[in-house]
Amino acid sequence: MNQTQPDLLTPLGDLAAFAGHWVGGGAGHYPTIDDFAYDEEIELTPSGKPFLFYRSRTRKPGGGMSMHTETGYLRLTDGVVELLVTQPTGFVEIHRATLSDGVLDFTPHALSASPDAKPVHEVRRRIAVDGDVLSYDMWMAFDTTPMTHHLRAELRRTAGG
Ligand code: HEM
Repeated sequence: MNQTQPDLLTPLGDLAAFAGHWVGGGAGHYPTIDDFAYDEEIELTPSGKPFLFYRSRTRKPGGGMSMHTETGYLRLTDGVVELLVTQPTGFVEIHRATLSDGVLDFTPHALSASPDAKPVHEVRRRIAVDGDVLSYDMWMAFDTTPMTHHLRAELRRTAGG
C-alpha cells in the first residue's frame, strides 16, 4: 500500500499508484553483449505537484559495483503521462503514454544523444504497477541491431515508500 501523505498524491490522480520507493532487480540482454543480472532501487517521489521525481540506481547483484543510473520526472499533463529521463551515458529521452490499468506503454517522443554517446537510435519503455509490484521493460535499437529487448525488472514497494 502507498503510505505517502495523501495531499502530496492528490495532484497525481491515478499516477499516484507509481509513487514510492521500490527495490528489486532485473535481467538484461542484447545480441551484442553477455546476459547480465542487476539489483535496482527506484525512487518515484511525490512533489505536491502533478509530477514525481524519478531516480533509478542499479548495482551488480549482492551489493556489488554500481551499474546504470538515471534521473528524471514522471509527469501528468492533459491526461497524458510523460517520462523525462537523463542518463550519465549521454542520453536524454522523452516518452508519452496514456495510463491504462496501471500500465504505461510509452511511445517514444524524443531521444537526444551526446556526440560521444553510443549509437542508440531509438528507445522504447513500458512500466506497470500492480499493487506493491512495479515492473518494466526496455527495448532499444543500437548500432546495426533493430529494436530489441534490453531489460526486464521487477521491484517491490518498500515499507514507508
Ligand atoms: C537498468 C539499467 C541498465 C543496466 C543495468 C544496463 C547494463 C548494461 C550492461 C551490463 C551492458 C554491457 C556492458 C557495456 O557494454 O557497458 C550494457 C550495454 C549497453 N546498454 Fe545498457 N543497461 C541499462 C540501461 C540502458 C539504457 C536505458 C540504455 C539506453 C540508452 C542502454 C544502452 C546500452 C548500450 C547502447 C549498450 C552497449 C551494447 C554493445 O556495446 O553492444 N542501457 N548495458
